[in-house]
Parts: sequence; structure tokens; C-alpha cells
Amino acid sequence: MSGDNSDRRTNFITIPDDTAGYRLDEFCIPKHYEDDLSRVLIPAGLINDRIERLARDIVDDFDEDGLVALCVLKGGYKFFTDLLDKIKGLNRTLGRSVPLAVDFIRLKSYVDDQSSGSIEVIGGDNLKNLTGKNVLVVEDIIDTGKTMQKLLTILRGVKPKCIKVASMLVKRTPRSSGYKPDYTGFEIPDIFIVGYALDYNEYFRDLNHVCEINEAGKKKYASK
Ligand code: IMP
Repeated sequence: MSGDNSDRRTNFITIPDDTAGYRLDEFCIPKHYEDDLSRVLIPAGLINDRIERLARDIVDDFDEDGLVALCVLKGGYKFFTDLLDKIKGLNRTLGRSVPLAVDFIRLKSYVDDQSSGSIEVIGGDNLKNLTGKNVLVVEDIIDTGKTMQKLLTILRGVKPKCIKVASMLVKRTPRSSGYKPDYTGFEIPDIFIVGYALDYNEYFRDLNHVCEINEAGKKKYASK
């Protein structure tokens, strides 16, 4: 790591509570989800532009020591691939570059739209590979923050050189444990959102905008 990056934690785009978002018919939405969403909250184009800036911040903060980007599956996979593509682009064109390795971990914590309160590591590489490395955890969303706090406890156990967290989204919620990631794309209202690889019981990962699910969608795709 290089330089002081403490202000990154407070640097994100805030989507206010009273945001109208965008009407579904202003964007292209897969036919099979048209009746299940109430609005587009963050269009894919804006997500893409924000990730470009996060990639620049990360490349500025890490040095030739490199980093292991740890993808938190499944929800983090879109953010992970888009963020890494942009970091790789900067590595090709800047006078300096940050060597990248990748690793994967799979967690499960949500049933319907409620945090189950316990996280389970249900797959991934051997975490021992992270010992002595600069680890960048890449996550889709921080809601209460409990999942990330538990994951960080697990990761610290294998003694990485440093651990930083990039989360595409952080929810503004009274249920927050107070945890804040090192890099955040957007801070969003306390609503359940889907798309851009975020799911509701495994549905909606194939939607590219971040959207709010409606009651009909929750009912239709509720866990049996
Ligand atoms: P936390 O432990 O409450 O911070 O929950 C984090 C995890 O819950 C994330 O990694 C997501 O998998 C899931 N999650 C939280 N909020 C949402 C949401 O609005 N949509 C989809 N998944 C969510």
C-alpha cells in the first residue's frame, strides 16, 4: 500500500432517501422482470463510470507489491469483473502498475429479504493463499455490516499483510453495525434492491441496472 487513503471511506455517491430513481420504461428491462420491479435506482452506465473512479483510487493506493482481489460470491461477481477490468486497463496505460491476483470465497447470509444473522462460508479457495498478501475484498453490498465483520475476522486468522474492502453499495440503515468499507461506490436508501448480480432468492442477477423490487416480485420469488 502507498500513501494515506483515509478520506476514501467518506467519498461515495449518495442516493438520497427521497430519490425518485428512474421509470422502468426509460430503460431496457428484461421482459421476465417487468412486473416485479418498482423503479431503476442506479442505471448500469452510472455504475460503470463510478467503478472507473474506484479503480483509479485503488491503483493510486496500492504499489508494485500488488494485491489479491478476493471476490465475495455470488453477488460480488459483476462488480469484481468490472472493477478488475478497469484496474487492468490502468495497468496497461499508466507508467506504473499494480500486479493482480484473484481469489474467490462464497458466503450465504440472506433468505428472502432478511439477513439470516449468521454467515456460512460455503465454498472458495484455500484462504491460506492469502497469508502475507495485500487483500482487497470485493463485495456487492454492506447492509448491517455483520457479514463483512465476520468475514474480516475469518480473513485476519490467516494473517494477510493488509486487508481493504471495496463495496459497490452501502445501505443507510439504522440496523448498521457501524462498519464502513475502504472504498464505496454508492450509499443507498434502506430498501431491498436487485440487479447488477444482486439477487432475491437467486433471481434478478441477470438484470444490469440496480433496481428496487416490488411486493409482487417479492411474492413471486419468495423462498418456498
Ligand atoms: P449484511 O451482513 O447485513 O451487511 O448483509 C450483507 C449481504 O446481504 C450482502 O452481501 C448481500 O448478499 C445481502 N444483501 C443485503 N442487502 C441486500 C439487498 O438489498 N439486495 C440483495 N442482497 C442484499
